[in-house]
Amino acid sequence: MAQAKVALVTGGAKGIGLAVARRLAREDWRVVVADPAAPPPDLAARHVAADVADEAQVDALLAGIAAQEGRLDALVSNAGFMLRKPLRDLTLGEWNRVIGANLTATFLLVRAAEAMLRAARGAVVTIASTRARQSEADTESYSASKGGLVALTHALSVSLGPEVRVNCVSPGWIHTRGDAPRPEDHAQHPAGRVGRPEDIAALVAWLVGPESGFVTGAEFVSDGGMTRKMIYAA
Ligand SMILES: NC(=O)c1ccc[n+]([C@@H]2O[C@H](COP(=O)([O-])OP(=O)(O)OC[C@H]3O[C@@H](n4cnc5c(N)ncnc54)[C@H](O)[C@@H]3O)[C@@H](O)[C@H]2O)c1
Repeated sequence: MAQAKVALVTGGAKGIGLAVARRLAREDWRVVVADPAAPPPDLAARHVAADVADEAQVDALLAGIAAQEGRLDALVSNAGFMLRKPLRDLTLGEWNRVIGANLTATFLLVRAAEAMLRAARGAVVTIASTRARQSEADTESYSASKGGLVALTHALSVSLGPEVRVNCVSPGWIHTRGDAPRPEDHAQHPAGRVGRPEDIAALVAWLVGPESGFVTGAEFVSDGGMTRKMIYAA
């Protein structure tokens, strides 16, 4: 029997990353989740408590996969967070933390994973955001990090081809926590609803799978149509 494919999902303990990890596990991938937080115990994955913004921890994470799983077919670089803070109050340390987790981590991960990904003729999927191209106030560090990630994605696709495909998913509003979206939150989307983590997981599963072989360097927006909607006050 063919050896199961191996996927690394960063930030896979909850939210979108957890949905991706569940989906890939269901499709018989061997899944490794890298996250300081522990995923739910029912997730069929090996958990590594790692901060992917830290160079030494990333190198140890990939060395561990080489030693334990012995291959890497897919990297889903999903870990990230948003800081909302007025520019005048944003410290350089805070800026660097957001850029570190949301952008630099992907550089560190792909650099450490390159040899295994090439050997497996694998795929990388980065999780950016529609905020790479549009903003609310007080989100400079997040928007900059996601814009950088979109650009890093196409740069990597050129450098790592033809062995490794590298694509990006930019989610819009995906409900992962807190109060349920209101009817008007759903209704403002051309698709008629707010997004679910499973929406992103389905796209990621296709991008790391065998049917997307002619797709690399691309950004896929999954936002229920919100960034296509022209908004003027009545
Ligand atoms: N939820 C949305 O509406 C939305 C929209 C657009 C983009 N995104 C992006 O999708 C990704 C996942 O978002 P989410 O809403 O599921 O977030 P979430 O906060 O629910 O989960 C993020 C996970 O990433 C982990 N994480 C954070 N920093 C890390 C680090 N340095 N190293 C390892 N793990 C780390 C956290 O511990 C957490 O388990 C993020 O990159 C986010 O920017 C989310």
